[in-house]
Amino acid sequence: MNILLTGGAGYIGSHTAVELLKEGHSVTIIDNLSNSSFKVVERIEKLTNKRVSFYKEDLLYTTRLKDVLDEHKIEAVIHFAGLKAVGESVSEPLTYYKINILSTINLCESMIASGVRDLVFSSSATVYGEPIRMPIDEETPVIDATNPYAQSKAMIEKILQDLSTAQPEFNVALLRYFNPGGAHVSGDIGEDPTGIPNNLLPFISQVAVGMRDKLVVFGDDYPTPDGTCIRDYIHVVDLAKGHIAAIEKLKEKPGLVAYNLGTGTGSSVLDIIRAFESANSLTIPFVIGARRPGDIPVSYTNPALAKAELNWQTKKSIEDICRDAWNWQKRNPKGYSEP
Ligand code: UD1
Repeated sequence: MNILLTGGAGYIGSHTAVELLKEGHSVTIIDNLSNSSFKVVERIEKLTNKRVSFYKEDLLYTTRLKDVLDEHKIEAVIHFAGLKAVGESVSEPLTYYKINILSTINLCESMIASGVRDLVFSSSATVYGEPIRMPIDEETPVIDATNPYAQSKAMIEKILQDLSTAQPEFNVALLRYFNPGGAHVSGDIGEDPTGIPNNLLPFISQVAVGMRDKLVVFGDDYPTPDGTCIRDYIHVVDLAKGHIAAIEKLKEKPGLVAYNLGTGTGSSVLDIIRAFESANSLTIPFVIGARRPGDIPVSYTNPALAKAELNWQTKKSIEDICRDAWNWQKRNPKGYSEP
């Protein structure tokens, strides 16, 4: 299939591009490179020995979207592009709503104009807010989001639902990610956050490589067995493969569908520190700090629906995540900014 990836030079997009190319699909990427690098595209091509069509365009302003869809005979779009830093979204809500929502609307308008009907959207488990039950299944209500980033994801989900009601031939898979981590096993592509990482795994990797002194564990007084928060960490390559399964599903089950993509197993912050240490035979210095505002104690999925309907489940372990994250970091201590 000919597939367009918006934000395809980003962390999850680049891993998905590699898996798609390996499966024989053609990949076109649109990315404004605001939080990524053209080197990612070169690495994707090197890893797969295949060519990628790349456009440095901003979805908010580009006038070329329909032409790109037409020219490459695009059959499905995976929409990764968007802003994703929770803290920044609190201080810059208008930027988050404008970029995340308007770029999605522009994309959908161009898809409709070009006759492209299948869209996979990068959503997030964050749309469940403080979930009313655990594990989280797709019937768990999407309730008030706690920050503008999360709210923008929930709003886009709603917009896409309304669009699919109005235009039943427009098919959408909403993929609600749990906590992605790890990197491609080659260590050639991985997560390259700008500035101080917000997320746990890249922070631990940067401590391991000596860029940061120590990890601060945000609270050890939660109602969990060891007092630290529990999350469902999913290897980015497993997550990438979930997108391929979703694209295939849209062909046989049109309409709008939502799937949680996670492992179904929760790990605490201390579990992750220990797993990283033992997978890589090193020590991660850490201290216990205050809780981070907005964190919920526990979050993990019930992966049954994705397994039943997408025939997809995760294969990689926390150890794989930790080993591959460290391999990427060691080989690219400064991410993509070094040769
Ligand atoms: C966060 C976002 C979520 C977003 C996701 C993207 C918040 C409240 N949630 O999820 O909306 O979709 O990233 O990947 O920001 N931790 C530490 N020390 C650190 C960093 C994290 O102890 O330096 C802890 C956190 O308290 C949390 C766990 O590690 O318990 C995971 O944190 P993180 O990687 O930021 O993911 P989420 O908070 O689950």
